[in-house]
Amino acid sequence: MTPVPPNATLSLPGPQLVDAFGRRLHYLRLSITDLCNLRCLYCMPSEGIAKLEQWEVLSLEELARVARVAVGLGVDKIRLTGGEPLLRRGLDKLLAELDAIRPRPDLRLTTNGLLLAEKLPLLIRYGISTVNVSLDSLRPERYARVTGLGAPDGGRALERVWRGVEAALASGALTVKLNVVALGGLNDDEIGDFARLTLERPLAVRFIEYMPVGRHTPFQPQRFLPAAEVLKSLKQLGELETLPHRPGDGPAQRFRLAGARGELGVISALSSHFCAQCNRLRLSAEGLLVPCLFSEAALDLRPLLRGGASDQELAQALLQAAQAKPQGHHQGPASLHVAGCQMSRLGG
Ligand code: 5AD
Ligand code: SF4
Repeated sequence: MTPVPPNATLSLPGPQLVDAFGRRLHYLRLSITDLCNLRCLYCMPSEGIAKLEQWEVLSLEELARVARVAVGLGVDKIRLTGGEPLLRRGLDKLLAELDAIRPRPDLRLTTNGLLLAEKLPLLIRYGISTVNVSLDSLRPERYARVTGLGAPDGGRALERVWRGVEAALASGALTVKLNVVALGGLNDDEIGDFARLTLERPLAVRFIEYMPVGRHTPFQPQRFLPAAEVLKSLKQLGELETLPHRPGDGPAQRFRLAGARGELGVISALSSHFCAQCNRLRLSAEGLLVPCLFSEAALDLRPLLRGGASDQELAQALLQAAQAKPQGHHQGPASLHVAGCQMSRLGG
């Protein structure tokens, strides 16, 4: 089904998720598990984080219900994240339920790629349109370090991730993006290698600024690499065509190397604010509706879901959370304070 265009607010029946500043929130990010099989250095400490109890995590039915109510309020794009969403038991059932929602939202998924090759047929069966694969290094020993796997597991894991990426590309059934967190002194000398992957492949490689989010991993300011620096490295590779921003594109500035099949993106989460265009709401694995990554405010949907609330009451709660979305975050490289949320339960 055709997704609702962003300017169709007035033609839709019923209330829509619009925040206090007039931004229409039509993008829901669902964290479907807090579990992960990696320990990326900017996300989780090597010893891991206390797992949520099973009862704390929203059930498949609860997740699908929130998604359905959100679509009724104008959400037309849903991303499954984690932790690592491909680890969620019953993923097939959840995908089937999401695929049956009408109007059918655009379904996407963010993964670390370890299980991508294995789960690809499932993702294709249920019409996932885009997979974003997190991959911060193409060099085995570095990948092993960034992900906390150590050698030799890290090297094998990198091969597995790459097999998943190649299989997804070869399927031709979905858009494949690589998310690379730019880390000074760690992968800044690989920007060219990553970018060149787009020459022969219809792949979008996006460089993301490292953000001070998550209570469990101390932010390492010396690793912060401004998007402008990434762009400078990209420009050294040759002619860089700027691609137009399309509605629904999100916060990436897009480019293409001359003659390349794929494209490049730079996401400056911190150094330039894109809050004015922010269109998203997030649901954590335990059912907290989080209007902004950088604010402590959250609305707990679990008591409603388990306390017999009607769909209408749930919708009211979503509308209320939309109203609580702050106008913007006040993070800049010079004013860093660590945001309270935990990426492994919220998924980026
Ligand atoms: N800064 C930037 N990106 C992050 N991610 C997780 N933690 C951070 C952080 N501190 C990214 C992951 C993945 C997505 C889920 O969020 O690399 O691409
Ligand atoms: Fe890495 Fe994502 Fe797992 Fe965090 S949740 S450790 S960023 S793969």
